[in-house]
Amino acid sequence: MAVGESRIRLGILASGSGTNLEAIAQAIHDGDVPAEIAIVISDNPKAFALERAKRRGILYRVVQLSEFDDRPSFDREVLAALTSAQVDLVALAGYMKLVGAEMIEAFPNRIMNIHPALLPCFPGEQGVPDALDYGVKVSGVTVHFVDEGLDTGPIIAQEAVPVEEGDDVESLQNRIHAAEYRIYPKAIRLFAEGRLVVDGRRVRVLPGHDLD
Ligand code: GRF
Repeated sequence: MAVGESRIRLGILASGSGTNLEAIAQAIHDGDVPAEIAIVISDNPKAFALERAKRRGILYRVVQLSEFDDRPSFDREVLAALTSAQVDLVALAGYMKLVGAEMIEAFPNRIMNIHPALLPCFPGEQGVPDALDYGVKVSGVTVHFVDEGLDTGPIIAQEAVPVEEGDDVESLQNRIHAAEYRIYPKAIRLFAEGRLVVDGRRVRVLPGHDLD
């Protein structure tokens, strides 16, 4: 399906609780994002994200690294599942694995990730505690396209989140989550509307009818 014409098919990869998956699914349900979730894939059979998919009647699959001889075979299985679900865009939502080169080639500028800090600051798995330990007064959320680095791809959207006096990881994370649930669906909507143009490291957002 051509992006910008109708509803895009989304594949979501999630390893954990799946609150971003929930926010995206809700935004779609509310008519704010012209997409449908074609498949949810998790590398973790215990991920609550799978339960969320089940409750919403979304197709889901578990693909576990331990069931494969090596990392490339695991990646190929994930890719095969996305391809057979005819996915237009892959959204990583708390997916705790680096995406392999083959998948990036198969979905050029069609894989998004959400990161709980203002990249390029505090990449990696500890974005929230790292920002807190560093003592920044403002952190935030970044949605970016995925390249082969760790949280290094072209930035689509960011929202600043203040660090407040007395914050601990949990309180800052909660504030960051609230921003994530706003900007991830919005970034997916821009993609679905064909409004994201990647020009080197820069992502231009074409004008359109904004909901907010
Ligand atoms: C989010 O904070 C996201 O930024 C990071 O992983 C977390 C996933 O949370 N990449 P959830 O599984 O969506 O609740």
